[in-house]
Amino acid sequence: MENAVAGVVRCLGASLKNRGLYPATHPLVRTPVEKCRMELAPFFADRSELALTVSDGTLVLEGVPIFQLTSSLELFMARLGAVGLPAVIFERGVSVEDIEMFVRFLHETKEQGLPIPEIKARLARWGVTHIRVTATDEEEKDDFTLAREIYGNALNVVVRALKDVRNGKTPDGAESDRAVREMSGMVSRNRDAMLALTLIKNFDEYTYNHSVNVSVLSLAVAETLGLPETERIGVGVAGLLHDVGKTQLALDLIRKPGTLTVEEFEEIKKHPVEGFNILGKMTHIQESMRSVVLEHHMRFDRTGYPRPEPEYRMNPHSQVIAVADCYDALTTMRSYQKARTPQQALEIMRKLAGKSLDPDLVELVERSLGVYPVGTMVRLSTMEVGVVTGTPDGGKGEPKVAIVFDRSGNQLAAPQGVDLKEADTSSGKPRRTILGTVNPLMHPPVSMSGVLQAVWG
Ligand SMILES: [Fe+2]
Ligand SMILES: [Fe+2]
Repeated sequence: MENAVAGVVRCLGASLKNRGLYPATHPLVRTPVEKCRMELAPFFADRSELALTVSDGTLVLEGVPIFQLTSSLELFMARLGAVGLPAVIFERGVSVEDIEMFVRFLHETKEQGLPIPEIKARLARWGVTHIRVTATDEEEKDDFTLAREIYGNALNVVVRALKDVRNGKTPDGAESDRAVREMSGMVSRNRDAMLALTLIKNFDEYTYNHSVNVSVLSLAVAETLGLPETERIGVGVAGLLHDVGKTQLALDLIRKPGTLTVEEFEEIKKHPVEGFNILGKMTHIQESMRSVVLEHHMRFDRTGYPRPEPEYRMNPHSQVIAVADCYDALTTMRSYQKARTPQQALEIMRKLAGKSLDPDLVELVERSLGVYPVGTMVRLSTMEVGVVTGTPDGGKGEPKVAIVFDRSGNQLAAPQGVDLKEADTSSGKPRRTILGTVNPLMHPPVSMSGVLQAVWG
């Protein structure tokens, strides 16, 4: 046992060390990963997972401490510690690719002490499915941390679902259902925490984050609409899987920047029907969710695709996905498009209201996100610049703001949360009011998650 355990860890260490010395495709990087996968296999004969932890400076695999440290093992342990990973769990079914990406993650991550949900989200984006990371000491979590975990988990589910479809397998509908229920719970508990995550955009894996964002936004709209729970979950699941049909298209077509040719657009137009077919094979999918996926590009004025017959009756929830889809696409930077601020996105959407988008829903989105949605950069009457970190009472209350730049435009060492209701002692009037939004491009980039974590953490 000891030998086998040491073998697994030695391979991980060797691959990590060699990654720093050779290109990723070099046999000295790749071979130890393959060897690690082989060394792991016998363990899974009688267990479904294997835990690797660092406790008191000792590397422990399945309870077996490894005392004979080689230089590569020391490096491996140091990287785990620096990134902030107390425990790694290998699941049965772990692939060479999973291990390879995990080693790459350890190699490329330069930040120290990342929060576990962030690590989870990154690994999910890279498609690591059978290596789990956990904190050994689960402390009380704040809403933001909780929301990040829930978001990360949903991201995992989407990655897995899309991967399954690409490999000709039918995704597990129960997983999507579970992930959406968690998100729906969090939207009810702290909508701002969940919505804030939709603004933390990731540019390399657009489809995954986009799917989760559309689900979160649809859930927020569904809640404002007062839909009963089953319908809310249905809308959320449809949001999560609305673009699943894109798995049937060529990858370079989905990723193609800029305008598409007529033929290419004809290809893209197939994805709602493909999605409808895929959902038909999955368990835990209501018939109405399938229709919503089929109809998400039909448009309010019925000019979209697939073009509906005159007598065809659309499911009204399809328009919820359509507004969420539009909002997320507009606020995301793509290779051919700069990201709009939430305000700019809403302005564009107001122009589309009554045409491609349902006007009532556009209004509702504005109402559910608030005049200044979370993440909006605003100028205050003091000439300070801040970021909206909360919109109490579903957007009706005074927004919460964290100041990031002082009146001279200098960035504060740490974001400072301020209360807009706080009165000026001499005049009795509010000390700070919001003058309006500012263009984030006029300022040095601000890490939205950093601001929110500092204020909420
Ligand atoms: Fe779509
Ligand atoms: Fe979409």
